Amino acid sequence: MKDILQVLEARRADARMGGGERRIEAQHAKGKLTARERIELLLDEASFEEFDMFKAHRCTDFGMEDNRPYGDGVVTGWGTINGRQVYVFSQDFTVLGGSVSATHAQKICKIMDMAVQNGAPVIGLNDSGGARIQEGVDSLAGYGEVFQRNIEASGVIPQISVIMGPCAGGAVYSPAMTDFIFMVRDSSYMFVTGPDVVKTVTNEVVTAEELGGASTHTRKSSVADGAFENDVEALAEVRRLVDFLPLNNRERPPVRPFFDEPGRMEESLDTIIPDNANAPYDMKELIQKVGDEGDFYEIQAEFAKNIITGFIRLEGRTVGVVANQPMVLAGCLDIDSSRKAARFVRFCDAFEIPILTFVDVPGFLPGTGQEYGGVIKHGAKLLFAYGEATVPKVTVITRKAYGGAYDVMSSKHLRGDFNYAWPTAEIAVMGAKGATEIIYRSDLGDAEKIAGHTRNYEDRFANPFVAAERGFIDEVIQPRSTRMRVSRAFASLRNKKLTKPWKKHDNIPL
Ligand code: HXC
Repeated sequence: MKDILQVLEARRADARMGGGERRIEAQHAKGKLTARERIELLLDEASFEEFDMFKAHRCTDFGMEDNRPYGDGVVTGWGTINGRQVYVFSQDFTVLGGSVSATHAQKICKIMDMAVQNGAPVIGLNDSGGARIQEGVDSLAGYGEVFQRNIEASGVIPQISVIMGPCAGGAVYSPAMTDFIFMVRDSSYMFVTGPDVVKTVTNEVVTAEELGGASTHTRKSSVADGAFENDVEALAEVRRLVDFLPLNNRERPPVRPFFDEPGRMEESLDTIIPDNANAPYDMKELIQKVGDEGDFYEIQAEFAKNIITGFIRLEGRTVGVVANQPMVLAGCLDIDSSRKAARFVRFCDAFEIPILTFVDVPGFLPGTGQEYGGVIKHGAKLLFAYGEATVPKVTVITRKAYGGAYDVMSSKHLRGDFNYAWPTAEIAVMGAKGATEIIYRSDLGDAEKIAGHTRNYEDRFANPFVAAERGFIDEVIQPRSTRMRVSRAFASLRNKKLTKPWKKHDNIPL
């Protein structure tokens, strides 16, 4: 018996060494942790239960029968994050470059199946040279099986991808179908075709970092939802995100202890709106002042900054926040901000996370760039996402709510449950000056007359009371009381049920 135990320990030690000392050193030299070190940081101490530690590939081509490392380049299993279960796979670049063989893919599929069955998120730590070149189509089949599971798990359990090394070719499409992608600065990249192919086909000269590094994907392409300095920070931030999320679509988000009075008055909000209606203010200040303990987990902070998306807690419960940011492009909606917010709203709705919307929007961004880029279809994404969302929806209009953008931003007409406005709200078809120049076109030559008409229009429409008279605004509230009002609103909506007509699925304007 003792001998057998020793054999087991020796085999385990072998598996834990991955690709061996030299390759582990090379991994560290690149500033990267190993697959197992990453799992240790991601999960609660000693909570990791491994599957398939001894699984090895069955390829016999290219001399591979003599190179059958335990684990086959990926470490899989489950553990806990602050006591809550998650499944994890962590690709081991020290073993055959973390490349994906048929068996490597089977290991990932196994934990994905268990995650769906048992209702817990999947977190993938990606660090791979792509398809195992020696295996050919078997590897592609393996990817295909993972893809299909990504699709089936979508909306059932949260799926989170962390890109911590190479992720290239078709391999990018598994993370692409997960709910959140995070990247590590300077050590990770994602692209469909690499710099060499790009050079050959388009004659563009570009580095891997420029083509698909963290900065490109968080600022330009919006493929990634966040970027972090190193492995340690990335894994700590994933832990923080998981704390906001439910384990699956049948479970509510966790309720955390909170130390912030729900009725807290925030007097500074009474003066946050500048006297000049065109002057900006920082919408993030409002979000932080409303949420428990000022804690805000922002998603896509570097992309389409004219809209803010992320999670706060109210009375310890997760709330998704969408807010126009007047500091960027005056907070208008455009292609990028509509796409960004629509995806976020759909995530919240899929996982029963209530949505709080702060509105200060002068309308949609004009221009040929926007129209040629399809702002009609992209803007419709956000409209559609809000309209189909059945989770509790609370909206606060702080200042401008003009035109179609008023309707889009979780208005009463899209089944907003509580639609509040601050006294500074201006709810109208458009700004007063633009409106009078159209209605009083014949007076355009007379600046004084136009100024008078503009003042009249402002007096008549640049306020929340016309909408409140019609019940489109449920209540005009004091800015200082916003935290209390929205907390009470969400508390009253905890048992909300809204049924929709049967359909196979909708046809959101993609
Ligand atoms: C098998 C691979 C591999 C792969 C790397 N290795 N990629 N083995 N299949 N795809 C092995 C290397 O042989 C090497 O083995 C070890 O991993 C580390 O690789 P290095 O090249 O030494 O590392 P580095 O210099 O850091 O370069 C990393 C790399 C490079 C840029 C990822 O390895 C590379 O270009 N690999 C090939 C990438 C590729 O073309 N993949 C297929 C893409 S198509 P030793 O024994 O020396 O340590 C694809 C399609 C997916 O992925 C389709 C899904 C539908």
